[in-house]
Amino acid sequence: MEPIITVKNLVKEYGEGARAVDDVSFEVGAGEIFGLLGPNGAGKTTIIRAISTILSFTSGKIEVLGMDNQEKAGEVRANIGILTTDIGAYERFSGRENLRYFGELYGMEKKDLDERIEELSRLLDMEAFIDKRAGKYSTGMKQRLAIARSVIHNPRVIIFDEPTSGLDVLASQTVRNFMQRSKEEGRAVIFSTHQMYDAEKLCDRVIIIHKGKTVAYDSVENLKIKTGTGDLEDVFLQLVATG
Ligand SMILES: Nc1ncnc2c1ncn2[C@@H]1O[C@H](COP(=O)(O)OP(=O)(O)O)[C@@H](O)[C@H]1O
Ligand SMILES: [Mg+2]
Repeated sequence: MEPIITVKNLVKEYGEGARAVDDVSFEVGAGEIFGLLGPNGAGKTTIIRAISTILSFTSGKIEVLGMDNQEKAGEVRANIGILTTDIGAYERFSGRENLRYFGELYGMEKKDLDERIEELSRLLDMEAFIDKRAGKYSTGMKQRLAIARSVIHNPRVIIFDEPTSGLDVLASQTVRNFMQRSKEEGRAVIFSTHQMYDAEKLCDRVIIIHKGKTVAYDSVENLKIKTGTGDLEDVFLQLVATG
């Protein structure tokens, strides 16, 4: 496996002493969906913010595409797309105008940007509404616009932080399909969730975090075999109860 993301002995302390992330290490390869799993407060968002250079960390090392994420923060950021549930849009602008705006922030050339918008519009089935005002969008349309926005710059790494929380079945399906497609395109995908059912369906390998510490790091299949349980929810409960 060619590692695209390497997290080594990551520690993050907020304020004094309390460790939100306590010595976490993992690698994510090209063309895999990697599950970052754990209950609320486990430290998932903290890890994601550290990888995406938004948050400084206490100790450890993170590399993205071989670049140190503190020394080359700008280049690392240019290679990462992040999707959370709360990405807003400018409601007075159309979907296309929103995407142009964010593409320009990434310094994309007009021609590349226009082509990328067409591609994403097709992929995410946005053609019918991309030129309508975002303020008029349904939840599902907003979600598709949010996805398009987070990957407008064609990043090698895509990180989804609890992307399906609070979404209806159809909108969740859109997100899952997009993750699957990103994997097929050879991107490195991190999928953070506390919903084991989604993780089990999508992930190749997972790390399970509890109170900032790693309780498991393996393929979904191996975890099931090792713990002798039928599904990831059981694995999770077993590990978190004993861990
Ligand atoms: N800005 C912050 N200041 C202090 N503590 C924080 C901050 N952000 C998160 N935490 C704490 O760090 C821990 C991990 O939080 P978080 O990374 O958001 O977990 P998750 O995304 O898995 O729900 C929690 O105990 C949370 O209260
Ligand atoms: Mg979180």
